[in-house]
Order: sequence, then structure tokens, then C-alpha cells
Amino acid sequence: MTECRICGGAVEEFLDLGRQPLSDAFPRPADVDAEFFYRLAVGHCVECTMVQLMEEVPRERMFHEDYPYHSSGSSVMREHFTRTALNFIETELTTTDPFFVEIGCNDGVLLRTMAESGIRHLGFEPSAGVANVARERGVRVRTDFFEESTAAAVREAEGPANAIFSANTICHIPYLDSLLRGVDALLTPDGVFVFEDPYLGDIVKKTSFDQIYDEHFYLFSVRSVQAMAERFGFELVDVERHPVHGGEVRYTLARAGARQPTPAVARLLAEEEAQGLARPEVLQGFASSVTRIREDLVALLRSLRADGKTVAGYGATAKSATVTNFCGIGPDLVSYVCDTTPAKQDRLSPGVHIPVKSTEAFTASYPDYALLFAWNHAEEIMAKEERFRESGGQWILYVPEVRVV
Ligand code: SAH
Ligand code: TYD
Ligand code: ZN
Repeated sequence: MTECRICGGAVEEFLDLGRQPLSDAFPRPADVDAEFFYRLAVGHCVECTMVQLMEEVPRERMFHEDYPYHSSGSSVMREHFTRTALNFIETELTTTDPFFVEIGCNDGVLLRTMAESGIRHLGFEPSAGVANVARERGVRVRTDFFEESTAAAVREAEGPANAIFSANTICHIPYLDSLLRGVDALLTPDGVFVFEDPYLGDIVKKTSFDQIYDEHFYLFSVRSVQAMAERFGFELVDVERHPVHGGEVRYTLARAGARQPTPAVARLLAEEEAQGLARPEVLQGFASSVTRIREDLVALLRSLRADGKTVAGYGATAKSATVTNFCGIGPDLVSYVCDTTPAKQDRLSPGVHIPVKSTEAFTASYPDYALLFAWNHAEEIMAKEERFRESGGQWILYVPEVRVV
């Protein structure tokens, strides 16, 4: 039996996505024999409802010098984080010499605004490559995992933080007990811990099973985050939905009793109750929809191949590792995948080894179809690649269902 990483309750598995490679490890052709695999399966805690992976990948295998994901690659995300930073400056950072800490600052997509605004700040970022990009943008970074000991060291050296923020990182951290003790050590008495991550409600509604991969250890819901907060002396005082990355929730935690919860918390809790997010049969239904998407997508790609059509992938996302490996989609069905990230180009996609090329390779000679692995950036990418459709090209989407547009 697997035990819940938060409360120790029993975790019941509801979806097995099979043997999977690391989602952000793009091997060179010479290195394909050294790939690391693990079993990707997901379950829910029968006690606190937290949805979590059944197997944990050691963090140093995922987050290191060569971690290739650069947050600033999307203009929509750059604007989202600039707005977020400015909003913090106006609301939580109005005292004299406030201190702002970010967990998983990546290439400085948010903290650059703090640096430009002269706000005292610090980013925790264990992946040295992206941390250095942030430093070049004037951001202060500690190349370290945020956890109890490193947070306490910062509290000791720099004093307490008025706000601690994290985007798309808290769900990457299995050791949330240590993390929350670190937040407790670092936060001022009336400070806030705010984090946003892909939302289980959206994942289930859209069958976006590709949000499940090694790095996404948890799929949060309001109910499970509320239970977790209470366990560690915090209180969930606000929730906000954001459309980025296919649907996220931004959670605000304060010390228990320090702030009045907004009505949004009870509202979204009631919505989850109605959706049945904590019910095993709803999660089983999600698992059945995943199987249907696999069948539909593979059938479509095979029929296109039989008709002699060319298909390329668009966006070498971490999410696409789950889709391609679970569905068995290799270079025979998708001849290459294009991506703007230099560190992914001229490498192979994890596990199934589809060659990764630049987006210039895509525009130089369009395929008949483009399978949009970066579906969460659909608006931005389709606008940028308008000529593809004008030239007769068609997009293939698989969220919330397989279709050609
Ligand atoms: N906040 C950015 C980056 C998300 S990617 C965005 O929203 O786009 C997740 C990042 O978290 C990676 O850069 C990874 O190196 C970092 N990370 C993983 N574990 C961490 C930890 N314990 N503390 C701080 N950062 C961590
Ligand atoms: P993203 O969906 O943000 O995250 P994840 O890897 O966690 O699933 O990844 C988007 C990928 O798509 C990233 O490798 C950059 C690439 N990309 C493009 O090639 N062109 C674009 O216009 C955008 C927005 C992203
Ligand atoms: Zn639990």
C-alpha cells in the first residue's frame, strides 16, 4: 500500500500511464541507452483526497544544471507574471523595505519585475542553468531547493518574508511537510504564501491527462489544499482561477486565524463537491476517458499515415512525454516536433525518440498536419503560425477530445 505523502492515509490508484521516461530529459542520439524510466501511476488519498503519484522520482534527476524549461518562452506567461508581480507590489508589499521570496523562479520571468521595481527579493532555483539566466536579468537567486533547512537559513540571514510566491512548482515537491515548515520559518506573522498550479477540476473536466508526469507529483484541488494547510498550521484564505496552462488555481495561505477567508473558497469547494472530484467513480471515469483519447488519437494518426500525409508535433512539452509514451507515438507517426527552446533542439524526445527541430524548420516546409502538444498555448501559437493554416495546414488537438481544426 502506498501512503499519502501529506497525511499518511491510504492512496488508491486510479490511472496507470505505464513505463515513462523523465519528461524534460531530451537525450542526444548517442545517449538513448542511458535513459531513466519509472512507472507513472496516479492515485487519491482516501483520507485527505490529495491526488498524487504512486512513485517518486529523485529530485536531482529532474532539476539540475541542464533543466531545459525556460518560463519566459511564452509571451502570455511573461505578461501573466508581470501582472502578478505588480499586483503583489500594490497589495502585500506596501510596508517599508518588504521582502518577497519566490520558490522555483526559473529564468526570472516574475522576479525581473521585482528587480526593476527595486523590491528586496530572493528566488530559490535549484536548476543552475535557468538560475543563471535569471541572474543575468538582475534577479537575486539562491541555487537551492526550498525546504525547511534552506528556508530557515534565509530567515536567519535576511529576516522574514512578507510574501512567498510559487507558480507551477509546489506541485513538483513531494516533501511538502518540509516545505511548509520552511514557509512557517520564513513568513512574517501576517504574511501570505501564494501558489498556483494546474487544477484537478480542469484536468478532470478536460481529460488533460498529459498534466500527469514525473515533475507533477500532486494534482491539487481546493479540498486537498485546504486539508494540507490546516495540517501545518495554515488556513486557505483565498482561491482564484486562472486560464493559463489549461486551467490553474491560485491558492492563498495565511497563518491560521490571521485573515478572514474570502467567499471564493466556499464557492469553489461547493463546485468541486458538485463535480464529484473526491469520488472514486469520477476519477475512474476520468481514467476511461484517457483510454478513449489514446484510441482516437492513435487511430487518427494511423489513418493519416496510411493516406500519405505528413504530421509534425508542435511544442516539445513535458506533457507530450506522457502522451507519446502512453500512446506509443514515435517518429513513424509524428516525423519531428518543433520547439523554440535551443536546449531541446537537435535532441530526441524522451522515450519515443522523435527528433526535435527548431520552429524555423516548421515554417520552412509545412507538414500537412501539426499535432499541438503545447495546446495550453494554442491561442498564442496559432496566431503566430497563421500562415500554416492559410497554406492549407491543419492543427490536431487532443484536449478535451481528439479533433482537427
Ligand atoms: N515558476 C516558473 C517555473 C516552473 S518550472 C513558471 O511558472 O514557469 C518548476 C521550477 O521549480 C523548475 O525551474 C525547478 O528547477 C524548480 N524547483 C523544483 N523543486 C524546487 C524546490 N524544492 N525549490 C525551489 N525550486 C524548485
Ligand atoms: P509548456 O506547455 O509551457 O510546459 P511543459 O513543458 O511543462 O508542458 O511548454 C511549452 C513548450 O512549447 C516549450 O518547450 C516552449 C515551446 N513553445 C514554442 O515552441 N513556441 C511557442 O510559441 C510557445 C509559447 C512555446
Ligand atoms: Zn492524505
